[in-house]
Amino acid sequence: MSESNDDQTVLTGIKPTGEPHLGHWVGAIEPALEMAREPGVEPYFFMADYHAMTTVHDPERLEDMTHRVAAAWLALGLDPDEMLFYRQSDVPEIFELTWVLSCFTPKGRMNRAHAYKDAVAGNLEEGRDEDEGIDMGLYTYPILMAADILIFQADTVPVGGDQIQHVEIARDVAKRFNHTYDTDLFTLPEHEVREARGAVPGTDGRKMSNSYDNYIPLFADTDDLKNHCMAIDTDSTPIEEPMDPDECNVFQIYQLFADDEQIEQMRDDYQSSDFGYGHAKLALFELLDDELEEPRERFRELTNDTSELDRILEEGAERAQAMSRPFVDELRQTVGIER
Ligand code: TRP
Repeated sequence: MSESNDDQTVLTGIKPTGEPHLGHWVGAIEPALEMAREPGVEPYFFMADYHAMTTVHDPERLEDMTHRVAAAWLALGLDPDEMLFYRQSDVPEIFELTWVLSCFTPKGRMNRAHAYKDAVAGNLEEGRDEDEGIDMGLYTYPILMAADILIFQADTVPVGGDQIQHVEIARDVAKRFNHTYDTDLFTLPEHEVREARGAVPGTDGRKMSNSYDNYIPLFADTDDLKNHCMAIDTDSTPIEEPMDPDECNVFQIYQLFADDEQIEQMRDDYQSSDFGYGHAKLALFELLDDELEEPRERFRELTNDTSELDRILEEGAERAQAMSRPFVDELRQTVGIER
């Protein structure tokens, strides 16, 4: 990893809360890795395991998900020699910075943060107390995220659309701090919405998501992958009648992974009288099974024995701390808390 001052620091966090699926790959992993490979980019990727704690309270599940999601990124091409890859929880300076930033975050701004506001609205709709079931983890989530971003002086933060507000909060809090101490300690980050090659529908046609349980897992074994493909919802067009590929979930998923020739072939097949949805699902399964064979092998290696994964994350932690420690020293000096 070569560093020059002109490099753009691109940083993004991954919350390990659900089994990795096709939607993660196309929507997040692939575009983020593409961005990271651009020249002049200094990429940082981290597992936001403490963020996951707002929803995951089962210790085994948290550990397992962190391993599985980290292994997914590595199996799909993240090269830890080219990028800084670490676990948020391995960089304790982030949590120290979180407190400092809290002192510069207007409470009203947190009241208006989407996730909190939605939770309050849901409570009111159901006739409950507005803060029922809402903990401070959800409420201050954006401040921890601001610390993730600001501690490594990120210039650009690739995110999904639902996270733009969080990057704006980080930027505003950084500005307030810089203004108060008349410093440029914090770099002001910009969000960048990832361009994916397409939206991945789930097996029920809604957006593919762990929370809808409509996903096709990336690292299932062959039989399981087949079952997931065969379970995609389709309409009841009889086999002898032509089917409309543009109205079909199977085709929508297929075209994200197939080459042009395969897509044309499939379009023709949909018109044919001896081709039904069962055939289409099987073709999708075969395509995915083939495409995922190598990453699946690598994923298995990394998760069956996690020592290599642990070593990679530990190395990342050391490299990350080599930067976060001096940064927090400077922060302490700036605010008047020196050792
Ligand atoms: N909140 C982000 C999400 O849910 C994950 C995240 C945590 C993150 N810290 C971050 C993303 C810092 C970008 C930068 O997707």
